[in-house]
Amino acid sequence: MRKPIVAANWKMHKCINESEQFAREFTEKLGILEKAEVVICPPFTSLAVVADAFEGTAIKVGAQNCFPKEQGAYTGEVSPHMLRDIGCQFVIIGHSERRQILEETDEFINEKVQAALKFGLKLILCIGETLEQRENGITNAWLRGQLEAALANITEDQMEEIVIAYEPIWAIGTGVTASSQDAQATIKHVRDVLADLYSPKIAEQTRIQYGGSVKPSNIRELMEQPDIDGVLVGGASLEVNSFLEIVRGAI
Ligand code: PGA
Repeated sequence: MRKPIVAANWKMHKCINESEQFAREFTEKLGILEKAEVVICPPFTSLAVVADAFEGTAIKVGAQNCFPKEQGAYTGEVSPHMLRDIGCQFVIIGHSERRQILEETDEFINEKVQAALKFGLKLILCIGETLEQRENGITNAWLRGQLEAALANITEDQMEEIVIAYEPIWAIGTGVTASSQDAQATIKHVRDVLADLYSPKIAEQTRIQYGGSVKPSNIRELMEQPDIDGVLVGGASLEVNSFLEIVRGAI
């Protein structure tokens, strides 16, 4: 059985005080967490306070990005080694905002995947198509290509540390969610690609999230789909009660 995984991607939101307040209130209200894994990904500047607030709980902390080197002359970058040091267990890699706004390539994303694993981080690897690609009927081929590139040189054993997040770009931050049937069909395709690239066993055990305008009102329907193992939540993760409802709806 794949354990549901619900992740909050705060993007470039919340200063230190707000992050700490969220973490403390969320921990208190959530209570004991057994049936799902919850990962909160604040901005770099809030990682330390959030990691501190979650210490001794089952809630995990993730970063939203990393640079694929241990250390060196890379001004402004943060290494996976530093993320481990600050208390992260996860890192998000390949988010569409980084692919589009910061022009990250598939090759660079693959380097980050390899580096994150090397330094002991688990990762949430994001893939997704644009509206134009969906309308042109090339979604499945596009996602296969993104997976092949991002997972180049990644072994079957390493796949245990990877969660895939399918996030259709047209659904991110737009309020438009993919219908649960479309999300299910595409995520089933992603699973089939993993069976081709690795084995039926890897396809069966890998957790695949849906992301894109997930809210308390659509979480249950999404989670009812057999291949959807969790969600990656942006906007609706910024407020404690709304994210709590999503976590509860995912169990
Ligand atoms: P959203 O963002 O929930 O605000 O659509 C999701 C994401 O980008 O991970």
